[in-house]
Amino acid sequence: MSTHIGAGLGEIAPHVLLPGDPLRARWIAETFLEDARCYSEVRGMYGYTGTYRGERVSVQGSGMGLPSLSIYVNELFREYDVQTVVRVGSCGALTEDLALRDLVIASGACTDSSMNRIRFEGLDYAPVADYPLLRAAHDAFDARDLDVAARVGLIFSSDSFYAARPELMQRMVGYGVLAVEMEASALYTLAAQHGRRALAICTVSDHLVTGEETTAQERQETFEDMVAIALDAMLA
Ligand code: HPA
Repeated sequence: MSTHIGAGLGEIAPHVLLPGDPLRARWIAETFLEDARCYSEVRGMYGYTGTYRGERVSVQGSGMGLPSLSIYVNELFREYDVQTVVRVGSCGALTEDLALRDLVIASGACTDSSMNRIRFEGLDYAPVADYPLLRAAHDAFDARDLDVAARVGLIFSSDSFYAARPELMQRMVGYGVLAVEMEASALYTLAAQHGRRALAICTVSDHLVTGEETTAQERQETFEDMVAIALDAMLA
């Protein structure tokens, strides 16, 4: 086992879905995977491996924020030789072009985190998605007749859920940023470092312009559509 994941070698599949919430990891395993088996309960950050349409797939909670995600993704890449990670999360919309429940497929991720500033000694790095995965996710979206939109574009990975300077988010919108979440920039950077494939797909759970929020029922339904799209993209 690794420091934070209680799985033996070979117990994690090459393709991993990564929700922030460990209880969502359990729900995905119970809802989508056949023969799902829990491989880790360390710190309650559940991980499961099962099969989806005959292919081995794992689902691992990442926790919230770049530092927590980085712990799990580092260990998945370094210790378990994971090849593909698709984050399935939620985001806050920053523009009225997005509606509640829409999907944001993140082509790249800006950030206020210091993690890459430290990694690159102050230089700016542009963390981007794996393009074939991104295209496969958009194709999987198109193949389903959903009543929500999917937007491909930039997201902002923030260290703060409760932003100290919300006006800075609006400046980012002027440069093409669509939504805010808390993890994608670290995921994309680590995938680049290790030569692996990564994508972040987020559903709009709350709207920072209009103040609207999804109900628990709506979050569950859109989450289900997003997971189906992520699985199709990952195994395409
Ligand atoms: N901020 C940061 N992360 C989020 C938000 C938000 O408003 N909504 C969902 N994830």
